Parts: sequence; structure tokens; C-alpha cells
Amino acid sequence: MKHPAEDQRVAKAAGIDAAPPLAREIAELTRRRQVIAAGELPKPEKTRVLTISNQKGGVGKTTTAVNLAAALARQGARVLVIDLDPQGNASTALGVEHRAETPSVYDVIINDMPMIEVVQKSPEFGALFCVPATIHLAGAEIELVSLVAREQRLRRALDLYLAEMTEPYDYVFIDCPPSLGLLTINAFVAAREVLIPIQCEYYALEGLSQLLKNIKLIEKHLNPDLVVSTILLTMYDSRTNLATQVAKEVRDHFPKEVLNTAIPRSVRVSEAPSYGQSVVSYDLNSAGSLSYLEAAAEMAHRGAPRSADQPQSNEKPHKREQY
Ligand SMILES: Nc1ncnc2c1ncn2[C@@H]1O[C@H](COP(=O)(O)OP(=O)(O)OP(=O)(O)O)[C@@H](O)[C@H]1O
Ligand SMILES: [Mg+2]
Repeated sequence: MKHPAEDQRVAKAAGIDAAPPLAREIAELTRRRQVIAAGELPKPEKTRVLTISNQKGGVGKTTTAVNLAAALARQGARVLVIDLDPQGNASTALGVEHRAETPSVYDVIINDMPMIEVVQKSPEFGALFCVPATIHLAGAEIELVSLVAREQRLRRALDLYLAEMTEPYDYVFIDCPPSLGLLTINAFVAAREVLIPIQCEYYALEGLSQLLKNIKLIEKHLNPDLVVSTILLTMYDSRTNLATQVAKEVRDHFPKEVLNTAIPRSVRVSEAPSYGQSVVSYDLNSAGSLSYLEAAAEMAHRGAPRSADQPQSNEKPHKREQY
């Protein structure tokens, strides 16, 4: 029987990495960690306000809002997450109080409470803050209907808050519920950029055309600055053909918007919220955490695109019609 070291020498001579898969994986994670540690992230000139939207449920909106925010905050940015989902998942994951009686985003959009009175500091990292959502928000869709300027309420509150800050935020992320109701419209009006997480699964692209149509309508009538700047592939499992196909299709259609980094399906990512943590603080060196750090770095380097860069599907007209 040959000695494993001999196998490795032969493989090395042939240019093949003969290290066992686990060792290769650890070496790769170490390399990625070093790249992240070496790079410094540029800060945006002014606050970038992004809404994280997809009316499809469970595609990774909240996970993305929380982990991109944590990744950016860990790398020195000042970040605010606005939890606009009555489920309050982002508030949970960021470890902030959101019991029913807690002042929340509901009070801001329904009772005109200044945003500064509801913002909480997340215990996660230095400059990471959260506007929590409580169960009261569940009734807000209906209450908003009869209010003046019902689509603009979050925008007004956020603009006022941002204008009064001495130390401005670099990023504001708004976590939307899985619907295209008035709460999501408020988020589209308050934001300048839309980030769409797409889960690498069958049906992932269904409903995308409706989402893009709605964004176009908002841009036309309520918020001319709105641009779909970023698409992030989530829960990517490179071992399945389906995930590879979905990723390819999305990249073919939206070559400029899709980040190179795809977030892998990872148990650590899904475990982190139960500890009231992002995966970045829960397990910094895990593949999920490194991917969110890499996605955050890409976002920071790309900066905010101009409105003229609205997503253009690729040339093939028959494909464009699908979206
Ligand atoms: N990369 C990942 N790996 C493994 N599990 C993940 C990953 N991303 C998200 N999940 C899990 O998938 C589920 C849905 O994710 P998440 O809550 O972020 O989606 P969502 O789009 O915000 O859902 P909703 O539409 O209900 O608001 C959660 O249980 C989450 O922990
Ligand atoms: Mg969510």
C-alpha cells in the first residue's frame, strides 16, 4: 500500500490538489478570510437606502438584511436596519427588544413618532442600529389606507431622521414583508435602491416580473430615484443542477445587478437568529458568514449605480418577456 504522502507528491507533480476535501475546504475558507481581512471597504458619499424586497416568502430577505448589515458594520460602516415586517424577524436576529409595548416602526408610520425615539442599538457590532417591528404592525396595512400621504410616511420619517443626524449612516436597509402591500410600497418610496434576494430553487423567478413591474410603477409615480441596484442569489447549493441552472438564468438576464457572490445554503446561517445574532457574529469564519462579508464588500465597491442603469434584461427578446 502506498503512503498517503507519496500520493500527495505524485498528485502535486501532476498539478492536482490531493489534499482531503475537508483540508481543501479549510484552506479555501482561510484564503477567503485573509482576502476579506486585507481589504478596506470604501464608504459611500452619502447614505445608501436600500429596500430588500421580494413578494415571495422565505427567499432570504430578512437573513440578507441582517447579515449584510452586520457584515458592513463589522467592517466599519454605520448601518441602520428598519424592520418593516410584522413578523419582526430582523428585530429578533439583531437581538433588539420588540415586545408589543416597545416603541416601533408602527408608531413611526401610524402615530408620527420621530424615528429617533424608536431606534435601538443592536448588541451585535459597534455601529449597528435597528428600528424594531412589533406585532402592532400587522394591522398597519389597513390603518394606512385612511391616512394622509399613506405611501410616503416612512420616507418622511426617515428623511427627517437622517437630516438631523450629526454622524450619518452609511447604509439603511429596509426589510420588507412578503407582499406588495402598502408597507412594501412605503419601503420602495423611502429607498433609493432595491436589493432583490433570489432563492436558487424552482419557482424562484416566478413573480419576478410582477415585482419589476411594480418597481417601475413606483419609479414613475412615486419615487423617480428608485433603481434595482443589486440581486443576490441565496441558499445556493452548488451540488444541485437546479441551483446552477437558476443561478445561470438569473445572471444571464441581469448581468450587471447580480453580485458575483452567491450565499450558500448553510446550517450556521439558519441557526444564528435563534441566538439573536447574525451569522457574522455567531460564526465569523463559517462559509455563510464569509459569503455575506464578500457580498457586502462587493456592494461597497460597486457603490450606488445611476438611475440610467436600471436593470436591462439581456438581448434575447423571448426571454425578456418572461420577466
Ligand atoms: N443561506 C441560508 N442557508 C440556510 N438557511 C437559510 C439561508 N438563508 C435563509 N435561510 C433560512 O430560510 C428561512 C427563510 O429565510 P428568511 O426569513 O430570511 O426569508 P424571508 O424572505 O425574509 O422570509 P419572509 O418572506 O417570511 O419574510 C429561514 O428559516 C432562514 O433561516
Ligand atoms: Mg423576512
